[in-house]
Amino acid sequence: RTVFLNGDFVPFEEARIPVMDRGFLFADGIYEVAAIIDGKLVDEVAHLARLDRSLRAIEIANPYTSEEWIALMRELAARDEVREGLVYIEVTRGVAERDFPFPPEGTPPTVVMFTQAKRILGAPAAEKGVAVITVPDLRWKRRDIKSVALLAQVLAKQEAARAGVSEAWMVEDGHVTEGGSSTAFIITPDDRLVTRPLSNAVLPGITRIAVMQLAREMQLTIEERLFTVEEALCAREAFYTSASAIVMPVVTIDGKAIGDGSPGPMTKRLREVYLALAR
Ligand code: PDD
Repeated sequence: RTVFLNGDFVPFEEARIPVMDRGFLFADGIYEVAAIIDGKLVDEVAHLARLDRSLRAIEIANPYTSEEWIALMRELAARDEVREGLVYIEVTRGVAERDFPFPPEGTPPTVVMFTQAKRILGAPAAEKGVAVITVPDLRWKRRDIKSVALLAQVLAKQEAARAGVSEAWMVEDGHVTEGGSSTAFIITPDDRLVTRPLSNAVLPGITRIAVMQLAREMQLTIEERLFTVEEALCAREAFYTSASAIVMPVVTIDGKAIGDGSPGPMTKRLREVYLALAR
């Protein structure tokens, strides 16, 4: 396994980050995760556009062009011989003596990239559907930035793990914001696809955009609006999307069955179509 670290491909065991890295000290960095299916990157251009947006938002200069990033990601996936899995990218504000304001101009960012082999196509969870719990959304007010400051999500997803479920849906003022690492969707009893509109309150999911485009092509009515936990519990179908889960059917929320308690037909269809197009 290889790590791309600051311009070099190094063996996994040899990759080291200094203690004074601002990513370590302040979570002063951002990240991206893209899927690899059949050895090919999925939605990589959109992921790199979001990477650029996150970097701009925290004033780190993007060290590579989109073409350069793609070439590096492909090289890494080829070296690791990953046919199915994820590429993780992280960029931090670099290494400097611990002090809150930005380090001296010219401090190079730290750039890290690695792959994770993972089953995506035939993931057993997608066949049976998964359970989620709801938890309070404890995050800051710029959730549109894909920041590596993920403590609230770590705690939310640990609560889910402890409850033996796959994801935690975070709730603010009674409304679902999103999953700990995914976008939340419901399909109402009158067949409307509902997800929260983009704002500072949620991460602009790349899979979210792709799935909404497919839903539009399938003539589904889409409503970008807030929804409550109560509405989700009465939904006909529910699912979440992310680069790693693709479209994941949700069959229970807080222990209560959604629809008939098995993956819904629209959800299954959206997953199938998305995967067919990704291949
Ligand atoms: N998480 N919302 C949050 C809070 C996320 O962390 C993610 C992705 C998403 C879905 O975004 P996308 O469709 O672009 O993957 C929504 C990644 C997979 C992670 O943290 O591992």
